Amino acid sequence: MLAPVVAACSHLTPPPPILSLASGGVISGIGKGIISSSLGTMLTNYGLNVTSIKIDPYLNIDAGTFSPYEHGEVFVLDDGGEVDLDLGNYERFLDTDLTRDNNLTTGKIYQKVIEKERRGDYLGKTVQVVPHVTNVIQEWVEQVSRRPLSNGRLADVCIIELGGTIGDIESMPFVEAFRQFQFKVGRENFLLFHVSLVPQPSTTGEQKSKPTQHSVRELRGLGLSPDFIVCRSKTPLQEGLGEKIAMFCHVPSSHVLAVHDLSSIYRVPLLLEQQDLVPMVWKHFELDEALWEPLPPKPLQRWQDLADRYEQLRKTVNIVLVGKYTGLNDAYLSVIKSLQHSCLVAGHKLNLEFVEASQLEDEARDNDPAKFHDAWKTLTQADGILVPGGFGSRGIEGKIAAIKWARTKKVPFFGICLGLQLAVIEFCRNVVGWKGCNSTEVDPECETKVVIDMPELSQTHMGGTMRLGKRRTVFVKRDSVACKLYGEPDFVEERHRHRYEVNPDLVDEIEKHGLRFVGHDIEGKRMEIMELSEKDHPFFLAVQYHPEFLSRPLRPSPPFLGMSLWPLATPCAEWFASACVLPSTRGFT
Ligand SMILES: *[C@@H]1O[C@H](CO)[C@@H](O)[C@H](O)[C@H]1NC(C)=O
Ligand SMILES: *[C@@H]1O[C@H](CO)[C@@H](O)[C@H](O)[C@H]1NC(C)=O
Repeated sequence: MLAPVVAACSHLTPPPPILSLASGGVISGIGKGIISSSLGTMLTNYGLNVTSIKIDPYLNIDAGTFSPYEHGEVFVLDDGGEVDLDLGNYERFLDTDLTRDNNLTTGKIYQKVIEKERRGDYLGKTVQVVPHVTNVIQEWVEQVSRRPLSNGRLADVCIIELGGTIGDIESMPFVEAFRQFQFKVGRENFLLFHVSLVPQPSTTGEQKSKPTQHSVRELRGLGLSPDFIVCRSKTPLQEGLGEKIAMFCHVPSSHVLAVHDLSSIYRVPLLLEQQDLVPMVWKHFELDEALWEPLPPKPLQRWQDLADRYEQLRKTVNIVLVGKYTGLNDAYLSVIKSLQHSCLVAGHKLNLEFVEASQLEDEARDNDPAKFHDAWKTLTQADGILVPGGFGSRGIEGKIAAIKWARTKKVPFFGICLGLQLAVIEFCRNVVGWKGCNSTEVDPECETKVVIDMPELSQTHMGGTMRLGKRRTVFVKRDSVACKLYGEPDFVEERHRHRYEVNPDLVDEIEKHGLRFVGHDIEGKRMEIMELSEKDHPFFLAVQYHPEFLSRPLRPSPPFLGMSLWPLATPCAEWFASACVLPSTRGFT
């Protein structure tokens, strides 16, 4: 492998990591993230160490306070950083763990500049966008890209994705910073990908190159010339269009890459591979040709297998996700991805249906009987029911009703975060007999407080805060489904994001009635995993943490794997056997 050669010299004196920058053209949201992370995964498979930075030219400093309905889900990193979906994509494709500093915003940069100004670092001089803000951007990028990766190596390549569209006022300081940066590190250490949409108005069916030409002209006007142009289109690029774009945009025609809509995102790296992307990148960076020698014959074989597997799935598993919707499914993106990963490994085709929790409530029967009926019809046809995390009180009783259905009808159930809390409440109301019990989050004055506020004491902030980031869960009962799914380790480490928890004072009483808390935090106070025993229910499992943040295409999250296998598998032994088809699915560490 060539990694050691490059990384070995990196350890002596860190060379500037190679930067490749993806900037969007025309409109945002055309899959820049997927293209950048595909490039990353390709370079990783060729043995390079890759890190990545996502730049969002907003003034916000932290994504934690965002409404998930406006911006999609909040993704949580090991260090508790709350970021948006794109960093999740990078983690999944690069199979590495990133930190909160891998997400850069205008707000974070300005905060730094203002701190410096207050400290007197600028010696009372006028502080300006150029050079002060642009310098801080460059320093940040250099620092973050020189930090060791989660495998302990230094990065050879840093992929930077600049959010938004070229020409936005917000992204100007970043564009200027990178214009300077290319001279600082040298053109051979800097690579610019420009991702652009090639529209195809249906009237003529002819693909249009003009928008791409315009956006490249704009980019050049700002002092950046793309090395590669990635054309995103619905169908493969039409004859001659690539050459035309190459000619008008001053790049060799081999540097115009075409990425049309594909059957799965696993095909994107393969499509780029067919267009010889990595050798061209290698050449641009003037990496040693000799490094090619020991390459595996097919570096992207694992992706090829995944993509093929995806197209050969036969048995369908119907999973119903009971949540809160506003028409934006991005709010549950990581949960959906995790189900896709685990179904792929399980060999099942995922049919995911959504049910709006509030439509399962008695109130809905009176207000909107048709929707109430449909929601219950979907729910009752599920092979498996999933209740993911969430906040707020709307739909709580509907989710509890869905959990009751799953428990009493022995439908496989998986709950995450709020899903665990509600499963415990449902059990307490209907099995233990505490009719008026509730969570103090939605009903502070309730009769029996089964779920209570248990903030974590923070060293850095006054008082208690949300429990965020990677924490350890210890298996206290080894004869459990969860422990088996994880491959029987002593403990697991997963990411958290919550304030409320099962009231520890009531745990003994609840367990007497048959609910098992099989995983605790290291102090034994916080309930992390609960399940019903296999003799009471085929699969009834819930976790307080968010396993969806650590699921990777080739290494699905174990509880999700259980959820994907169980609904269709008859005897346990059989599904454990099939869970082992890919060695990477066991052994979570
Ligand atoms: C980074 O943080 C900003 C500010 O909170 C947020 O808007 C953005 O979505 C985050 N981006 C990523 C990739 O996490
Ligand atoms: C629990 O709290 C919710 C929200 O306040 C309320 O709608 C519900 O009726 C409560 N349930 C019980 C059993 O008290």
